[in-house]
Amino acid sequence: MCGIVGFTGRREASPVLLEGLRRLEYRGYDSAGLITGTGNELHLRKKAGRLAELTKAVAAHPAPGCYGISHTRWATHGGATDRNAHPHLDGTNTIAVVHNGVIENFAPLKHQLRSAGVQFRSDTDTEVLAHLIGHYYVGDLVAAVRQALTLVKGTYGIAVMSRAEPGLIVGARLGSPLVLGVGDGGTFLASDANALAGYADKVVYLSDRQLCVLNGDDWELRAQDLSPVTASVHDIAHFLADGDAEKGEFPHFMLKEIYEQPETLANAMRGRLDDADSTAHFGGLNLSPQQLRQIDRVILTACGTSYHAGLVGEYLFEELARMPVEVEYASEFRYRNPPMDRGTVVLAVTQSGETADTLAALRESKRMGHTTLAICNTVGSTIAREADGGVYLHAGPEIGVASTKAFTSQVAVMTMLAVYFGRTRHLSSIQGQRIIEELRALPDVVRRTLGCHDHVKRVAAKYADARNVLYLGRQYLYPAALEGALKLKEISYIHAEGYPAAEMKHGPIALVDESTPSVFLVPRGNVFDKVMSNMQEIKARGGPVIAIASEGDAEVAAVADDVIPIPDVPEYLQPIVVAIPLQLLAYEIALLCGCDVDKPRNLAKSVTVE
Ligand code: G6P
Repeated sequence: MCGIVGFTGRREASPVLLEGLRRLEYRGYDSAGLITGTGNELHLRKKAGRLAELTKAVAAHPAPGCYGISHTRWATHGGATDRNAHPHLDGTNTIAVVHNGVIENFAPLKHQLRSAGVQFRSDTDTEVLAHLIGHYYVGDLVAAVRQALTLVKGTYGIAVMSRAEPGLIVGARLGSPLVLGVGDGGTFLASDANALAGYADKVVYLSDRQLCVLNGDDWELRAQDLSPVTASVHDIAHFLADGDAEKGEFPHFMLKEIYEQPETLANAMRGRLDDADSTAHFGGLNLSPQQLRQIDRVILTACGTSYHAGLVGEYLFEELARMPVEVEYASEFRYRNPPMDRGTVVLAVTQSGETADTLAALRESKRMGHTTLAICNTVGSTIAREADGGVYLHAGPEIGVASTKAFTSQVAVMTMLAVYFGRTRHLSSIQGQRIIEELRALPDVVRRTLGCHDHVKRVAAKYADARNVLYLGRQYLYPAALEGALKLKEISYIHAEGYPAAEMKHGPIALVDESTPSVFLVPRGNVFDKVMSNMQEIKARGGPVIAIASEGDAEVAAVADDVIPIPDVPEYLQPIVVAIPLQLLAYEIALLCGCDVDKPRNLAKSVTVE
C-alpha cells in the first residue's frame, strides 16, 4: 500500500525514481510524486491520477539532480488530489517527506502545529511529519527525524531529505516495510525490493524502529537512539529474477499470473515431496518431530484471498491430519482474547508478508508465547522474518492486485503441511503416498484446466451485464465459492456473493431471478448429488446456472444453462483446480466491463495500514 522509492548517487535520480514507481504502481495508484535536489534547490513534481500523469509532468518540467525521493499513493487521509500527493514539505520548503502508513495522532499534532502558526497545504497526516521534522531541524536531518518520530503514534515507512544537506536521504520504519539497496552508482530506498531489481545488487531490510542514512555510495543502519546497528546484507538476485515484474506477452499481470500456475504449483512442491517416508518436508518450519507431535490445535489467520486459502486449510487439516483448526480474520483475531492453550500454533497465511492486520495477529500470538508459523510468498518480508518458522510459496512476485497464483500455492502448501502433520498421527504411508502422487500430478492437471479459457470467454460474454452473481459450493468448494465471488467483485465491481450451496434457502435464494446468475461448483465428489439438488432449487426459481463441472458430465449439462468443464481430481484438490475457471471468469467479465484488471479502483496489493 503506497510505494516509496529513493535514490542518491552518481546519476540522474528522476529516471530511477520513475522506473521504481512504475514497478510499485500496483501498491497504490491514485496519485504520485517525486522530489529531487540540485545544490540547495529542490524540484517537486506531483500529480493526481496514474503514474503516467507524473511521468508527463516530469517530461514537461524535468526534475534534475542526483538524489531524490518519490511515492505512489493509496489515499488514507485526504482525497486523491495534486495537493495531497506526496512528497510533502515543511513550511520553509527545506524538508521533504514521503510516507507509507498512518499517523494516528495526526489531529492533535496538527492542532499544536497550527497553534504555533504552521500553515498546512494538504489534508494528509504525512504533512504533520514534514512540519515536525522541520521544527526540529537545525542542520542535522538524522537527529530531526529521530526527534520527530518520538512524537508520532501509528505506522510509518518514510524517506526524508533536506535541501540543506544535498545527497542525504534518511529512511525509517515502524510497521510499514522499507528496504535499503546498494548497487549501480549509488544507494536506494524502497518500500518493496521489487522496485530495486536490476538497480541494486544487495538489500538490507529495516526492522521496526530502525533508521537508515544514505548518501551516495555510503549507507548505515541506526537504532532508534541513533546507535549503529550491524546490518545483515542479502543478495537481491536470490529472490528476484529479471523479468519477474514484467508482463511479457500477456496483456495483464493477472492473466500472466493465472497462466503461471502450473509452474508456480510445481515450485511450491519442488523438493518437498518425500517418497521414502510418504510425507512432505519443509526446510524452514523449525519444529522438531517432538514439538510437532505436541501441537493439538491450529489457528489460521489471514486477510482477503489468503483468508479463503485458510478456510480451505481448515478442511485439509481436519481431513488429512485430524487436527482441530480455526480460521480467523486477522483484523478480528488481533483484538480478541481467545483462550489458547499451550499446544496451539498460530499460522499466518499471507502473500505479501506485510499485511498490517496479519502481522499484528502474529505479533500478538508471539507475545503470548505461542509458536507462530507463516505461509508466505515474499522472501524477506516482515512476517517471514518474524515468524518462528514457515514455508515460502516460491510463486515469484504477484503484481496483479487480485491474488491468483498465491492462492493456489497457499492451498498446495497447506495440503503438504496437512500430510506432514497427518503422517505424525493417523495417516498411513499408503495414504500419504497416494496424496503425494496426486499432488505431483497437479501442475499438469492445472495446465489442462487452463484449456477451459475459451469456454469461460463464451460464458463471460453471456453474463457480463449481470449486476449480481451468486457463487455456490459445498465442503472444500465452499471457500472456493467465496474466493470466486471475491475475484469478480474486486476487478469487475459486480456484486457477488459466495455461499454454501445448501444455505441458500435460508435467505439469499430471495435474490434469485432471471437476471441473477449462479455459478455452481459441482465437480464429481461426495456431495455431488446434494449440490445438484441445490442447483435444481435455483433453476426452479428461474435463476440462470453456470456450472463448473467434471469434463463430460451429462447430468450437470442437462440442468445447467452453461457448463465449464474441468478435469477430475480428488476432492481435497478441487479448490485449486476450480480456482482456474473462477479466476478466468472474473478476468474476462472485468475486461468486458472495461475495468482496469490489474489496478482495480479503491484497492491496493498490500494493505500495510489497519
Ligand atoms: C489485499 C489484496 C488481496 C489480499 C489481501 C491479503 O487486500 O488486495 O489480494 O488477499 O490484501 O494480502 P496478503 O499479502 O496478506 O495475502
